[in-house]
Amino acid sequence: MSKSDQSFLRQFSLLIAGLGVLTLVLIFTAWTIYEHEPKEVDPNAPQQLSASLAPNGAVYAGNTGRAAMEAAQAAAAKAAAAQVAFGGSTDGKTIFDGVCTACHTAGVLGAPKVGSKEAWAPRIAEGIDTLVQHALDGYHGPDGNTMPPKGGNPSLNEAQVKAAVTWMVSQSK
Ligand code: HEC
Repeated sequence: MSKSDQSFLRQFSLLIAGLGVLTLVLIFTAWTIYEHEPKEVDPNAPQQLSASLAPNGAVYAGNTGRAAMEAAQAAAAKAAAAQVAFGGSTDGKTIFDGVCTACHTAGVLGAPKVGSKEAWAPRIAEGIDTLVQHALDGYHGPDGNTMPPKGGNPSLNEAQVKAAVTWMVSQSK
């Protein structure tokens, strides 16, 4: 190895070593700067997080949700009221003529005829509340006949059934 080769090698090694040190310094500097810079945040992150955490049906959460739910319930109640038979009439004769007459006028299926004192006397003796309950829930008499719940019209409400029973009883005393 010539003398100039040796001096080249020495200088070249120094240069490499210097570059290595410079690389380390740069890495360290970059890391320090990165540590001190505020982190970049996805502006949509909070929405994305709450969306992913929200339970199904979250539309009904909180106070706005309660208002929406109450509105929905009110609308449902209104719709249900509109479906009550005979427009919600509690006129006993109207209900009877619409539903109960099918059996209770001619005595179909063993139904006690309206106007028949003999057929109704023992029933009236049970008390009007019992009769109303039987008309609401349905009734199997001891003679094996069947009164269907609400005369087979479930859209009747309790007041309507009660009005019909009261009217039937009033006609049969
Ligand atoms: C499909 C026929 C049928 C219709 C419709 C019907 N009923 Fe009856 N109902 C009967 C029969 C049958 C009995 C007798 C049951 C028994 O005592 O065995 C009866 C019995 C009754 C009784 C006496 C219950 C008791 O405790 O003795 C009442 C009250 C009554 N019905 C009310 C009504 C009213 C109110 C309606 C209309 C909303 C109605 N029914 C519609 C068949 C009917």
